[in-house]
This record gives sequence, C-alpha cells and structure tokens, in this order.
Amino acid sequence: MPSPSRLAAHWRRDVARVLIPKTELARRVRSLAGKIETDFRGRELVIVALLTGTVPFLADLIRHLTLPLRLDFLGVSSYGDGTESRTLIYTKELRLDVRGRDVLVVDDILDTGKTLASVLAKLRRLKPRRIKTCVLLDKPNRRKRNLSADYVGFKIPNLFVVGYGLDFAEQYRNLPFVGVLRPEIYAGRCPAPVCG
Ligand code: XMP
Repeated sequence: MPSPSRLAAHWRRDVARVLIPKTELARRVRSLAGKIETDFRGRELVIVALLTGTVPFLADLIRHLTLPLRLDFLGVSSYGDGTESRTLIYTKELRLDVRGRDVLVVDDILDTGKTLASVLAKLRRLKPRRIKTCVLLDKPNRRKRNLSADYVGFKIPNLFVVGYGLDFAEQYRNLPFVGVLRPEIYAGRCPAPVCG
C-alpha cells in the first residue's frame, strides 16, 4: 500500500490491502498496449469499452496506442441477486458502425463471463471483420461461460476488488490501485459482493 499517511483517510479506513499497486498497473497496461499495437499493425481499430469500470484502464491503455482508432462505449448493467442468474440490461448502445471493422472490446474484469458473452453475441450480429477482447483483470476460477480474453492484465483469485475503475456501490473507482475492502464494509449488504 502507498505510504498510509499519503492515502485519504476514508481509503485508509476502508481498504484492507492493496492487491495490485499503481506502478504494476502502469507497467502491465503499457505492455498490453504493446501487444495490441503489434497484433493490429496496419489496421484501424474500433475500441468498444464497457461502462463504467473501464474508464481509468481505457484512458491509460489508449494513450500508449498509436494505431488509428475510434472509441465507442456500451453500457451494461446487471440486476438480480448478485449471482449468475442476474439479468443484463444495455443502458447505452453503440454509436459507431462496426461492420467490417477490427473491434477490440475492453472490460474491467472477466468474472463469470456472462457480460462478455452477451456483448460478443451482440457485436457478432453487427458483422465486424474480427473481434478481440481485452480485460484488466481475470478471475478464471469463477467462469460460468466457456470463454477467455485475448489480452489479460492480471489473473486474480476469487476476491471482490475495487479501485482503478472498479467499484463497490459506485464508490472507490478513483483509487489509484486495485485493492480489497475490509469485510466490515460489506456488512449488512445481502448478498455481500464476495466472490467464490
Ligand atoms: P461477469 O460475471 O459478467 O462480470 O463476467 C463482469 C462484471 O461483474 C462486475 N464484477 C466486479 N466488480 N469488483 C467489482 O467492482 C469485482 O471483484 C467484480 N467482479 C465482477 C464488473 O462490473 C464486471 O464488468
């Protein structure tokens, strides 16, 4: 964890530990961008980022890309009991035409795979030339769909994480690192967002 005295008091109170420090995030994002740059060399890219948790990751990633690219967003929310039986609702649709294009889907975290599976099915109907997927975090042990991402920042264990875009109850997205909250923060929430 960064020197405790330099962390805002409410973060110091709520965060149990840092899982991925900001220096590691920065290094890994730069390396992912390098791979993407090589794989898509000579192509024009449409990046489709999922709202809202991708924002810091996306902003850092695209600053390392020199490929010609256009950026669009899909809003996906899930409602339900916090398990795989959740219902996905699209809160923002694409604006750009992806037909015949090279598409890179960017998401914050691949968990059960339900979100990415739905997004991929939706995009395939729009007939892009090819689709690749990029996620900052991957929890492979939680997978309920048979899919993996083409570019993965970090594989992590079954922990509910926040920071660098990821939230709990819409809070903590602006933490500069990925961290684990103290269990008391979830107390009284049913179901608690603890995975595994
Ligand atoms: P699925 O299960 O569809 O989940 O792959 C993807 C979405 O679930 C959310 N998610 C998390 N959000 N900390 C979060 O802040 C987590 O540990 C976590 N695990 C899953 C997230 O919205 C992601 O896009």
